[in-house]
Amino acid sequence: MTSYTSFHSRPRMLCLIGIGLLSGTFAMMGLECPAAPVIPGGGGDDGGPGTGNSGVTGKYVGSERCSQCHARAHEAWGQTLHAKALSTLEKIGQGSNAACLGCHTIGFGEEGGFVNRATTNVLANVGCESCHGPGRDHVTNVNVVELRPPKSISADVCGKCHTGSHHPTFEQWSESGKALVTDGVWQSFAGGNNLNNCGTCHSGDFRYLAVYNNETVQNDYLKNKTREEMHGITCVICHDPHNRTGNAAFPEEGRDYQLRFRQVLDPVPSNTVEDATNKERFNLCGQCHHSRGRTWADTARGPHHSVQANVYIGEMPVPVDTPPLVLSMNSPHRLVREQCSTCHMYRKDFESEVAPAISGHDFKVNYEGCTGAGCHPSGANALALKQTLENNVKTRLDGIKNRLGDPATWEYTSNGGPNNAGQAALPEAIKKIRFLYHYTISDGSYGMHNPAYVKAMLTRAEDLLTAEGL
Ligand code: HEC
Ligand code: HEC
Ligand code: HEC
Ligand code: HEC
Ligand code: HEC
Ligand code: HEC
Ligand code: HEC
Ligand code: HEC
Repeated sequence: MTSYTSFHSRPRMLCLIGIGLLSGTFAMMGLECPAAPVIPGGGGDDGGPGTGNSGVTGKYVGSERCSQCHARAHEAWGQTLHAKALSTLEKIGQGSNAACLGCHTIGFGEEGGFVNRATTNVLANVGCESCHGPGRDHVTNVNVVELRPPKSISADVCGKCHTGSHHPTFEQWSESGKALVTDGVWQSFAGGNNLNNCGTCHSGDFRYLAVYNNETVQNDYLKNKTREEMHGITCVICHDPHNRTGNAAFPEEGRDYQLRFRQVLDPVPSNTVEDATNKERFNLCGQCHHSRGRTWADTARGPHHSVQANVYIGEMPVPVDTPPLVLSMNSPHRLVREQCSTCHMYRKDFESEVAPAISGHDFKVNYEGCTGAGCHPSGANALALKQTLENNVKTRLDGIKNRLGDPATWEYTSNGGPNNAGQAALPEAIKKIRFLYHYTISDGSYGMHNPAYVKAMLTRAEDLLTAEGL
């Protein structure tokens, strides 16, 4: 592949800039039947050279045809870059390069698919049928349910194009924990349990139906499914397939990324359970990576593994009408340009087959992301600082654990600690210390998300231990 112009490169981080809040719009999709006349012409953009459709006689009908009944979806799609994908090639003189057309049009190379602007113009660009499959049977038999196009939330739908060394998005996502439902949790879903409890954050199937489409979903919806048959956090759980949403913090020229929630949000820290669990307060990642509401007063289980957004902001829920355990605190990391994605979604352009593009979709921290706008002189420098911090935090965690003594005497019941009666007899101070200890571990960044706040948590735990004479 040749002649790739790119607009991926840009600073990934700006220190100490204010973070602008962008208001998101959620265009809803609607079905507007009945039929209007078939509109011949362009497949979504401003046309291009030649606009004939004499060759459109096969299984594909083109996106204009769908607009007859799915007017709102069509209008929304028309604003996305998918609807301009052939023009993108034409702008760089690659509009008839067979090596490129397969992913920039509908069905190129297939029987009945795009050939050229002169004969199959309505099949130009990435259209409805690129994702939903051929639509001829559906449009000629709209009432036959079996012939309706699939609307799959599988990453395979997107992965057939968002793949390869220029944009290995699918490959990187597949390596991440998001690709499969969490081990231990999927067995529960397969057994017909807990879907309503855990599915919001752990199941793409549940989240799509219950959260995005407001449907009632029974706990046995995934019963007897294999892990591979279930959907994890797939592309369309974070991306809206049809709409520009205005939710990206700093999209490149003309782009949008079609994110379902705002990439960047800056809530005022709060230690109430209500706020700590209120997903409206959090950015896209914080939709799932937030507290599940447990406080130091809980005895069966400690904080869930998902408290990253709260630690990032510098907050920790406490029982109603009790003082915070630690004062809220901010860190310079709160000011990085794209918040979570600055560190967890570092992107880089394609250079060569040995230095392919990095899409950031494995969500692993790439320390090159720390060098933007001069924040850290190099990735190696940032990594070294991180390791020092992590060592310090881990040493202090070990110290706290040692001072607490035998875990059977102080842990949560689910971690092998005392039973209900034993929990009731534990001093409040011990409950606070173990909560601070587990909150730090659950965050998983060992201080990186908010160094000052995490250090303050550990100091509080150590002070409580001293006061207890431990
Ligand atoms: C003549 C009207 C008409 C046309 C043209 C039409 N559809 Fe439909 N479509 C319908 C109706 C009616 C339904 C079922 C109502 C519903 O699901 O809300 C439907 C349902 C769908 C669904 C949802 C299926 C589901 O399981 O819920 C998809 C996806 C879809 N159409 C895609 C397309 C695509 C892509 C095109 C163009 C190739 C297209 N439609 C053209 C009328 C039409
Ligand atoms: C980039 C891939 C993609 C393109 C392009 C696309 N869709 Fe979809 N569409 C999906 C996916 C994935 C879903 C299911 C997830 C969702 O609803 O967000 C879906 C859902 C739908 C639904 C069902 C919505 C509902 O809420 O029941 C309809 C109808 C539909 N699409 C029609 C269209 C039409 C018409 C077009 C072209 C104007 C189109 N789509 C273009 C991927 C796509
Ligand atoms: C037929 C190939 C194809 C399929 C299928 C496809 N895409 Fe794309 N996608 C593209 C191309 C090509 C572009 C670049 C368009 C351009 O810039 O002209 C793109 C661009 C995008 C962008 C960037 C939009 C922006 O504003 O920056 C997102 C996000 C995206 N696709 C998500 C998806 C998702 C999610 C799916 C699956 C539901 C999907 N795509 C399916 C080919 C495809
Ligand atoms: C395997 C599918 C596939 C093939 C083949 C393909 N593209 Fe793309 N192209 C994409 C996708 C997907 C995007 C969107 C990438 C993104 O935003 O991450 C894209 C985006 C682009 C862009 C927008 C700028 C950019 O880098 O995001 C240009 C220009 C482009 N492609 C040119 C080409 C050319 C020229 C060829 C042939 C030499 C080609 N493409 C072949 C899938 C493909
Ligand atoms: C819809 C819920 C959801 C959203 C939104 C979400 N995550 Fe996750 N994330 C999860 C779940 C569930 C896991 C645990 C996956 C596993 O390992 O089983 C996870 C795991 C992770 C991990 C641990 C490494 C791994 O791959 O398992 C990182 C890092 C991460 N997410 C970062 C992010 C970032 C950054 C964002 C925003 C761009 C984000 N997440 C958005 C649900 C979500
Ligand atoms: C508010 C969203 C949310 C809910 C609800 C939720 N989880 Fe999680 N859970 C997460 C996130 C995010 C992670 C990944 C955190 C990480 O990788 O550090 C996770 C991680 C996990 C892990 C993996 C721990 C590991 O590192 O291996 C297990 C097991 C788990 N959750 C079980 C459950 C169960 C069981 C339920 C329901 C009773 C549930 N979760 C409900 C967000 C949630
Ligand atoms: C956990 C949420 C999440 C999931 C899952 C996810 N994305 Fe993204 N995606 C993002 C975020 C956030 C950005 C913006 C990153 C940035 O600003 O650099 C993004 C950016 C993109 C872009 C535009 C940037 C680029 O690389 O050119 C494309 C295309 C894209 N995603 C496609 C996909 C596809 C395809 C999948 C599934 C294989 C997917 N995404 C899964 C959150 C997600
Ligand atoms: C300043 C950079 C930075 C920012 C911003 C950031 N993180 Fe992290 N995060 C890290 C580092 C570094 C780690 C430790 C990773 C490691 O040790 O491999 C980490 C760890 C994690 C983990 C645990 C990973 C695992 O493997 O269990 C999750 C989940 C996570 N971050 C999610 C998020 C979320 C959600 C946000 C936004 C609220 C966020 N991060 C913001 C740097 C950052």
